[in-house]
Amino acid sequence: MKSYSIKELLSSNLSLQEVTVKGWVKTFRSNRFIALNDGSTINNIQCVVNFENFDEALLKKVSTGAALEISGTLVESQGRGQSVEIQVNKLEVLGVSDPDTYPIQPKKHSLEFLREKAHLRVRTNTFAAVMRVRSVLSFAVHRYFQNNGFYNVHTPIITGSDAEGAGEMFRVSTLNQKKPPLNEAGEIDFKQDFFGKETNLTVSGQLEAETYAMALGKVYTFGPTFRAENSNTSRHLAEFWMIEPEVAFNDLDANMDLAEDFIKDVINYILENCAEDLKFLEQRLLDEEKSKPQAERSDMDLIEKLKFVSENNFKRVSYTEAIDILKSCTPNKKKKFKYIIDEWGADLQSEHERFLVEKHFKCPVILFDYPAKIKAFYMRLNDDGKTVRAMDILFPGIGEIVGGSQREERLDVLLDKIKELGIDEEELWWYLDLRKFGTAVHSGFGLGFERLVLFATGMGNIRDVIPFPRTPQNAEF
Ligand code: 4AD
Ligand code: MG
Repeated sequence: MKSYSIKELLSSNLSLQEVTVKGWVKTFRSNRFIALNDGSTINNIQCVVNFENFDEALLKKVSTGAALEISGTLVESQGRGQSVEIQVNKLEVLGVSDPDTYPIQPKKHSLEFLREKAHLRVRTNTFAAVMRVRSVLSFAVHRYFQNNGFYNVHTPIITGSDAEGAGEMFRVSTLNQKKPPLNEAGEIDFKQDFFGKETNLTVSGQLEAETYAMALGKVYTFGPTFRAENSNTSRHLAEFWMIEPEVAFNDLDANMDLAEDFIKDVINYILENCAEDLKFLEQRLLDEEKSKPQAERSDMDLIEKLKFVSENNFKRVSYTEAIDILKSCTPNKKKKFKYIIDEWGADLQSEHERFLVEKHFKCPVILFDYPAKIKAFYMRLNDDGKTVRAMDILFPGIGEIVGGSQREERLDVLLDKIKELGIDEEELWWYLDLRKFGTAVHSGFGLGFERLVLFATGMGNIRDVIPFPRTPQNAEF
């Protein structure tokens, strides 16, 4: 007998055929109705047991979380909300699940509670839906770039450079714990750490991706990145996945076009391919919002919001214009900010970014031409000598989702910048080589994958869109 996934069965025309399914029990009602799920879809298949035909001891083992193999006849369902159901002929309990100790009960658990159960939370509808959307989004990312002539580059995880210059790196240690190398002062000498070099987990694959763009033209990376920043927010992880395209001969405008086209494409892809899960997540959000005051509720439903982003142009605004908008806020509005921006050159806080996106423009915003002083060393200096060709994309409900720039391609300007910031030129010799041999205008950006999943699923905390979140508080699993 052929084994089917529940997704196949629910969308099939197999009525009256004998089928076999395997999955986990969601609920077992009245000693008669088993709702079975196998992860292939948000929907369960109802399996109807005629309990008189089955051993009582066997049915006792059918409880929430147990793994079953069921064979039976697929028939049109009498119940509401499902097209077909299985009349069970054969039932085998593959793995029992003790109802007294199984943490995932058939009731609503809080997301905080489930965070402590990262190994089991994907058995809930919410997490299963989020993780399926995450998987499809990941495929959509590769699909977009592969369809558009980009090559995927696997950049290193262990690296000697600090791409962002922010000093937020996890050190990689190979030190012999019993006999670590010591310096003259008798302290552990990290400079001798990894093959005689100080090394870290990567904060970004950008610098290495640049080297490949300068030969393959259009490349992208999609890999794990690490930031040892101690920010305990709903938007930061210590380990997250980043998508970083890098394109030779693209200037900042072309970089903005690419980022916008890419984001719209992957959102369209999940709208087309994750309809059921998105509908479920939309309803989850509506239920959650019912408990909030009207003013705090979002004015668009999830799917409407995704469509809005995929169909409308992002607003492009220079940093200078954005500061003017923030400066011209009425004192009343300004008071709402924890940190008031009154001068050019200040770094925007997430409260300002969200104000611009959610209250002022009411659409995704691309901010560009930031002050050089608040951005990384590799960004292309503008002719005004004080701004760089940087861009950040800000999203409603999220804040910064993309950070990117046109790169400084002029050796002399880059060298001046490196000196000014006190960066060790020797460390970047290979990066500087790119400016010596066939240098060219090029650009790229980094998109935080989890922030995209947050937006796509309407979840509120970044810890809930990655299977095993790493934060300063949580790296237990
Ligand atoms: O703005 P960032 O730091 O830019 C870079 O790393 C560049 N090298 C990218 C490039 O041009 N190739 O990070 C890029 C994006 C942010 O916009 C944000 O979406 C995400 O990465 N991000 C984080 N996501 C989750 N947790 C964190 N701690 C993050 N830090 C950055
Ligand atoms: Mg950034």
